[in-house]
Amino acid sequence: MKPLGWIASLNIGNKKIDAQHRYLFELYNRVLRVEGGHPDRRRLLTELLNYVDVHFAEEEDLMQAIDYPDLELHKERHRELTERVLRLRDAADSEVLDLLQEWLFVHIMTEDHRIKTFMESKRSSRFDLSPQ
Ligand SMILES: [Fe+2]
Ligand SMILES: [Fe+2]
Repeated sequence: MKPLGWIASLNIGNKKIDAQHRYLFELYNRVLRVEGGHPDRRRLLTELLNYVDVHFAEEEDLMQAIDYPDLELHKERHRELTERVLRLRDAADSEVLDLLQEWLFVHIMTEDHRIKTFMESKRSSRFDLSPQ
């Protein structure tokens, strides 16, 4: 498994959410640095999964606050990952890490980026002077 590298295009333009996404990557990479079978690995993985929960809740609060239209769908995506992780609870750490590796990147690049697009359209409509 390769470490997750942060790239600028992952940013969605909200400082708090971007910082949380970067921290998720960092936690993920911390787990990878510990050898399989070492008790620290399980502990760090639990820390990562707990932070995923915290992040989901805060991202959902943000969507609520800005009247994001696809809030329910996005929440459903978050629930799906949580359920998939729970199903893998007793599997090897590497299976959970594989799932997170792909999921984190793809989810941020697609679903979370829709929040970015929405925030940008809200911002630009504030300056829309065209007749109604
Ligand atoms: Fe997110
Ligand atoms: Fe999300």
